[in-house]
Amino acid sequence: MDLSAEVAARLAAGEAALQRALSEDPHRPTYHFLPVATWMNDPNGLIQWQGQYHLFYQYNPNGLFWGTMHWGHATSPDLVHWTDLPIALAPTPGSPDEDGVFSGCAVDHDGTPTFIYTGVRGEEQLPCIATSEDDLLTWQKHPGNPVIAAPPEGLDTVMFRDHAAWREEDGWYQVIGSGIRDVGGAALLYRSPDLVRWEYVGPLCVGDASRTEPLWTGTMWECPDFFPLGDRHVLVVSVRDEENLLYGASLVGRYQGHAFTPEALGYVDTPGSFYAPQTLLDDQGRRIMLGWLREERSVDAQVASSLAGVMSLPRVLSLSPDGTLLMNPIAELERLRRDHQAYDNLEIVPSGIAALPGAEGECLEIVAEIESHDADRVGLRLRRSPDGEEETLVVYDHGDGALTVDASRSSLSQDAHRGVQSLPFRLKDGELLRLRVYLDRSVIEVFANDRACLTARVYQSRPDSRGIGLFVSGGSITVRRLDLWRMASIWEA
Ligand code: FRU
Repeated sequence: MDLSAEVAARLAAGEAALQRALSEDPHRPTYHFLPVATWMNDPNGLIQWQGQYHLFYQYNPNGLFWGTMHWGHATSPDLVHWTDLPIALAPTPGSPDEDGVFSGCAVDHDGTPTFIYTGVRGEEQLPCIATSEDDLLTWQKHPGNPVIAAPPEGLDTVMFRDHAAWREEDGWYQVIGSGIRDVGGAALLYRSPDLVRWEYVGPLCVGDASRTEPLWTGTMWECPDFFPLGDRHVLVVSVRDEENLLYGASLVGRYQGHAFTPEALGYVDTPGSFYAPQTLLDDQGRRIMLGWLREERSVDAQVASSLAGVMSLPRVLSLSPDGTLLMNPIAELERLRRDHQAYDNLEIVPSGIAALPGAEGECLEIVAEIESHDADRVGLRLRRSPDGEEETLVVYDHGDGALTVDASRSSLSQDAHRGVQSLPFRLKDGELLRLRVYLDRSVIEVFANDRACLTARVYQSRPDSRGIGLFVSGGSITVRRLDLWRMASIWEA
């Protein structure tokens, strides 16, 4: 297909108009990517190609529910503004992906864009490849699919899907998500000279499902990603068990001689809404992560709505000198900032609360720097109704060493899950609490002190639940500075 610039512009205009029409739905985010009409889950095939960022994603064109997976496709010049393009991959009847095109990655194979994805046929889930000759618009599946005929012999695997590939001096490598029965989640390493013929090298990393500290790494690892960062390597996996999708976990360690030795294990985000992250390396050398934000409300409410799944904001990953994984929103998001308000040196008395005069809204960025004077719990109150009947709290609990989004009173609607999500997080002596919060209707993304991320979904029932405030219990706080911006819609005309 020849998608001329003019056709692309018309598509983009039509897409933006549809997005604006759907934005009547009070829960529909306005500056996070999501497809116009139907279900999406994992980001797939993230790649920058000739200056454009390409996002593919698990997509069901048939409704606001998971089923018959395709790969949707969107492009962006800046990772903020997106144009949704025609479906890139669909199941082919009578082929190894006739029942679904599951998650995978994209690589540049000497100038040929190539996907490695999981083809689903009946109970079988096996690696397949596809290539594009028109700059990633249309894709041709390899006649030899599946390119790996079965999971490794002699390994009792409970799952075998999802791919991350990279090139080394002696050829291509990929990890495939898996689980070893009665052992734990696993990332299995393969090698290939040409992306078509694959040889099993061995497990790159295997979890231990009998251990729960510092976090439980489950019985299966979906969507593995593996990349160098600073002077280490990072393996990111999406942890699950037979029943539940749990969370993204990161293992930071050393990779040498095709063996990976993890040194630190942590959450990529809180157990809850953020799942199946994938990264790309861009031409500025940034390692950028996107994840799928799941809905946290009843399936009936979801199917009756205009959205089922949202893409997270892009985060830049880096490592601190001690090997801690750091995550920060990409700078390009600042382009969406509008009407600014700033508050300096607000003193909040012990166990006090403060409304911020004039601070309200549903699509905001809030940046706060807070100094605590022996406070136990400190935080922000978001989407608060005037009488406090609905509100969502972002809390730093010094005693418990936790960062929490407490959505238990976020909505009067019985359809909303209203969970409380926490992460281990502790400020160092004398360190200020630095919060950066993105509110986009039903999405809340919190970045704390560069090293903790917490994503939540909230579905207020009252249109007047728009207030923003602060609270403290125990000691007092000084809010050294709080900046607040209204955020523009990415679909604005
Ligand atoms: C993760 C996942 C992947 C799979 C895809 C199917 O959310 O279960 O393991 O490839 O979703 O949509």
